[in-house]
Amino acid sequence: MSDTSEMITLTIDGQPVTVAAGTTILEAARSVGIEVPVICYHEATTPNGLCRVCVVDVDGGRLLQPACIVPCRAGMVVETRNERVERSRRTILEMLNSAVNLAEAPAIQTLLDDYEAQPDRFPSAAKRDHALIDDNPFYVRDYSQCVLCWRCVQVCAEDAQYTYALTFDHRGFDTHVSTGFGVPLPDSSCVFCGQCVSVCPTGALKPKIEFGLEQGWTLEQIWENTRFLKKNRRKSG
Ligand code: SF4
Ligand code: FES
Repeated sequence: MSDTSEMITLTIDGQPVTVAAGTTILEAARSVGIEVPVICYHEATTPNGLCRVCVVDVDGGRLLQPACIVPCRAGMVVETRNERVERSRRTILEMLNSAVNLAEAPAIQTLLDDYEAQPDRFPSAAKRDHALIDDNPFYVRDYSQCVLCWRCVQVCAEDAQYTYALTFDHRGFDTHVSTGFGVPLPDSSCVFCGQCVSVCPTGALKPKIEFGLEQGWTLEQIWENTRFLKKNRRKSG
């Protein structure tokens, strides 16, 4: 949270910017119309600095800094896009693309183009491969498309819903989002609010009706596969 009692001035891309102490570099850049790319960051969730695509050059320091979590300091000199920053973002995007199916992640696809990422930079890299999970009437989960941004886990917890149905399972390359003990969603504490689906930046979480339409389901098949809606139709009919 920014401390509005103290204002500080820094320089971003050669432009003086005055913000409240505690403001992140990302917020400061946005306040003057400078766009920094993000993947894991979302306005509605607590930033955790996971994807590192937002890195910027601060005072020419040895390490690039993630703009979404690093607070501004008085006199800081930030470059949001130089050769070093671009190379780093490009590599991150290429690594992500090597491991995850990003076909239904339009914002990330735009970044891949913008940074001229090579789709085959890491040809022998393993892809995350998960079977589609269809265990409830409301949405399907395809963790082959998950970038582990943590947004869904956070909105399900303290950032919005306080339901705690989602968590992480396994470690390292095998890390994936799951319910507690891997139980089907209807057996978890999930209340099917849909907040996780709304913050997912990829096709990993998808409303069941949208999924059915993509599969070419008929109206009857959609009713069959979204049982909650079917029951309601009968009640109202
Ligand atoms: S399922 Fe979506 S929101 Fe959840 S961690 Fe994966 S990409 Fe992020
Ligand atoms: S957007 Fe900053 S680390 Fe992901």
